[in-house]
Amino acid sequence: MAEKKTFYITTPIYYPSAKLHIGHTYCTSVADTIARFKRLAGYDVRFLTGSDEHGQKIQRAAEKEGITPYEYVTRIVNGFKDLWKHLDISNDDFIRTTDKRHEKVVQELFQKAYDKGDIYKAEYEGWYCTPCESFWTEQKLGENHTCPDCGRPVERVKEESYFFKLGKYTDQWLKFIEENPDFIQPESRRNEMIQFVKQGLEDLAVSRTSFDWGIKVPFDPKHVVYVWFDALANYLTAAGYLEDPENFDKFWPASLHLVGKEIVRFHTIIWPIMLMSCGLPLPKKVFGHGWLIVDGTKMSKSLGNVVDPVPLIERYGADALRYYLLKEVRLGQDGNFSLPTFINRINADLANDLGNLLQRTLAMVEKYEEGVVAGPTDKEAVDDELAALAVETVRKFEAEMDDMKIDDALNDIWGLIRRSNKYIDETVPWVLAKDADCVGRLRTVLYNLMESLRIISVLVSPVIPASAENMWTQLGLKNFKEVKLSDVAVWGGYPVGTHIDKGEDLLQRYDLAEEVAEAPKVTE
Ligand code: MSP
Repeated sequence: MAEKKTFYITTPIYYPSAKLHIGHTYCTSVADTIARFKRLAGYDVRFLTGSDEHGQKIQRAAEKEGITPYEYVTRIVNGFKDLWKHLDISNDDFIRTTDKRHEKVVQELFQKAYDKGDIYKAEYEGWYCTPCESFWTEQKLGENHTCPDCGRPVERVKEESYFFKLGKYTDQWLKFIEENPDFIQPESRRNEMIQFVKQGLEDLAVSRTSFDWGIKVPFDPKHVVYVWFDALANYLTAAGYLEDPENFDKFWPASLHLVGKEIVRFHTIIWPIMLMSCGLPLPKKVFGHGWLIVDGTKMSKSLGNVVDPVPLIERYGADALRYYLLKEVRLGQDGNFSLPTFINRINADLANDLGNLLQRTLAMVEKYEEGVVAGPTDKEAVDDELAALAVETVRKFEAEMDDMKIDDALNDIWGLIRRSNKYIDETVPWVLAKDADCVGRLRTVLYNLMESLRIISVLVSPVIPASAENMWTQLGLKNFKEVKLSDVAVWGGYPVGTHIDKGEDLLQRYDLAEEVAEAPKVTE
């Protein structure tokens, strides 16, 4: 049977407890790039993001402002949606855990696990990190009763709770991981999780009674479902579980949950065990990415170095920010943000390499051919070299993107961009233009440059979608949204006789000293 060409990718659903910062922007940009790449590769893609709106943290924040939790989250969630729009995020759905469709799913899962005998009532006594919404045993705590994940103080909690029998599934989990070595990526996180489980899994409290901002336990409404049990189920809800069997069949199990490293534990231990208990298929892959740190330190409100992406997008554009994040950080590892490296990247890669190639080429087509691209006639060896590199770049790009090596894929695309710039210097079109005998050669050179740019615009589109479309249009081409990777797999697809549509320079240069001196307000 032919493989189903569907791809369901998710980001974590973000807590609407504060404004989103550049770290969240990073995670969502990576997911968007992968979603766009898969569409380009011909997959039917479902890309989900959303907001995780229940729990004690939100209830407290709303109380502090004297408004209802729902009013509180709605205001913040609208800000999330605006940010994703400005960042050109192409999500197909935005789930809020307060959606009616979701409540039904959470209650159904809770009931199923209960009916299976995997949920029982007892009393929880232990520690709780409210910012992370996670339970901790005494032995796992950091110094002075702090959360081992975020370092903030934990609280003592004693209340009636339902417990989920995680421990019962230890062997089944270990067997699953052994049989599915790609499930947890990268490998280092996989090993961490195996060690964690081998130390023994304790049953997990999955309901709370000391506050009420959550989804009610269906058979005991004085309990609300623990926020992580609630949140993880979002991936099922948005795939259409219960409400849309056709979509559910098409998109479940999810192809990829992209999550930050500190929440890999929830996604690779609790989530699969919830699904095992309910008899549902497990997602294919969970990838734990690293953190974005700022000028070498982790972002935190108390340090005052939390970078707000909005002023950066307003000043430099979404594409510049997206490019920087994807190029600078190797997926899976931590990466650093600093304004000078950001400006240098924009100038060197986007304005100098890519922007110049486009502008120089279009200017020559306009000047020497009155804007119309003729067919290639007088070939030379250097042309074959450029064509071969282009074809090889498309092939490598596809393999690297499939392997989630986005920075490597960008390096290869930039190899082609630089080679094309060098091709201009080698073929000297301005010299050819002075010699009537060289008309055929000039046309061939310009055609090859246009073809290289056509291919490049498609390859960069998952990372810098607006600039890619703008390039495509300036090349005189149409229907960018329908283009597929297969359209650039073979050299020579640029249609002869096309009239270019030269517009403004799309990739601007910035003066580093001025930018740093003026330092647009990036911290809050
Ligand atoms: N609500 C939960 C996720 C539930 S998913 C079923 C949550 N929300 S969060 O808003 O705190 O974090 C969401 C994601 O943002 C996490 O994957 C986290 O790793 C990521 N990031 C938060 N700060 C980050 C950086 N500084 N750098 C990169 N990613 C970061 O956890």
